[in-house]
Amino acid sequence: MSKVTMEEMVSYCNRYGFIFQGSEIYGGLANTWDYGPLGTRLKNNIKDAWRYYFIQRRDNSYELDSSILMNPTVWKASGHLDSFSDPLLDCKECKTRHRADNLISSYDASVNTDSMTQEMMMSYIREKKVPCPKCGKSNFTDIRQFNLMFATQRGVTQDSSITVYLRPENAQGEYVNFLNVLRTMRTKLPFSIGQIGKAFRNEITPGNFTFRTIEFEQMEYQTFCKPGDDEALYEYFKNYGIEFFEFIGLPRERLRFHDHEKLAHYAKAACDIEYLFPFGWGEINGTHNRTDFDLRRHQEYSKKSMEYFDVSSNEKYIPYVIESTYGLDRIVLAVLFESLTLEKLENRETREVLKISPFLAPFKVNVLPLIKKRHAEKAQEIFNELRKYFMVSYDDAGNIGRRYRRGDAVGTPYAVTVDDETLEHNTVTVRDRDTMRQETVAIEELRAYLAEKTGFVK
Ligand code: GAP
Repeated sequence: MSKVTMEEMVSYCNRYGFIFQGSEIYGGLANTWDYGPLGTRLKNNIKDAWRYYFIQRRDNSYELDSSILMNPTVWKASGHLDSFSDPLLDCKECKTRHRADNLISSYDASVNTDSMTQEMMMSYIREKKVPCPKCGKSNFTDIRQFNLMFATQRGVTQDSSITVYLRPENAQGEYVNFLNVLRTMRTKLPFSIGQIGKAFRNEITPGNFTFRTIEFEQMEYQTFCKPGDDEALYEYFKNYGIEFFEFIGLPRERLRFHDHEKLAHYAKAACDIEYLFPFGWGEINGTHNRTDFDLRRHQEYSKKSMEYFDVSSNEKYIPYVIESTYGLDRIVLAVLFESLTLEKLENRETREVLKISPFLAPFKVNVLPLIKKRHAEKAQEIFNELRKYFMVSYDDAGNIGRRYRRGDAVGTPYAVTVDDETLEHNTVTVRDRDTMRQETVAIEELRAYLAEKTGFVK
């Protein structure tokens, strides 16, 4: 199980500048969160690790940054306008709104709502007299489908305005640029387009801190392939997901696959990777076999051919797509839960330490003058040199033990102490966050030493 509770995590993130409540000074806006200075670093480092793993290391792999607002026909073609909805009902007694599937699973966790139609859910709720979680009565309206997309108006005058949507997934930006990437990169199948960016969903039951929010970031990866190659690629990307999570420090025993029975409107097969959070298993990734659904629909609605001419077999076809999608905010949360440790020391003190992989740590090294008056000048010099290459923090306030603890708490893997030895021999003491062991390193070797220890490749 996780080492800290959700309550402890929320407090930790707030205390150290990882995550704050959104619009806090105005009392917040439910289920919005702001990443603070350290949280932003962590999030960016996870993005960089993903880029390294998915874009840099792979053949025919390209990154894109498409618009959040798209021509509304995109959402007609993709099926989101018609099918991207949740089954909702209202309690007639206390006027609260609920998702029908959630009502049923909190009433009886053994019921599989994935295989139930809207009518089946309604009859179940009526027959079993499933109670409202708020008031305990069982008097609900019929189930209605509620679209999850946020709509807004675009136009100079009220009359000429059109409804546009905040994208609910990044994927469509990748599909509508399929031809552009194919042409400009002069690539061939199989090739992939990856994209990191915000998505928005008007979720009725958000919660669990940053796990389910209305605005979140996805790292999505679409691999376009020849029909027939899709099933092997689907299996491949499920396993590649596990490898990526292990690479960033999530252990195999707290990861599991979850095959979907109830499929999204675009998918032929879907499998999630879940991480064991303190509140239970939660989805952090999904791999979907989207067949040629999206490209075929875009061809139909845009009247632009999405066919690919395969020179090796002399045939034309619309490629299939295997999608592997990663929820960035959920991965940040999983990494924090995995890493935050409260350690009992021999002197009975508790050491709060974020045992995060060095390449994900917000700061790689913390530079500390042992005695401010005597060692600050040299420490500043080392700090200024190192910050050309790494994110470095500098701390001269309080005793050295307390300064070590502050670095440990935010996951800084190395502390460099500048003392009399430094002035005499040009060496520093490097302390390892996890083992607390110290070693002497020559200043001229410090940069290479830290680069090797904090890079992606060991
Ligand atoms: N393009 C496919 C797609 O969007 P999804 O399973 O609906 O698939 C992908 O979402 C990932 O986005 C999920 O695995 C999850 O990690 C993340 N995600 C989805 N809804 C979210 C929400 N409301 N808050 C935070 N993350 C979310």
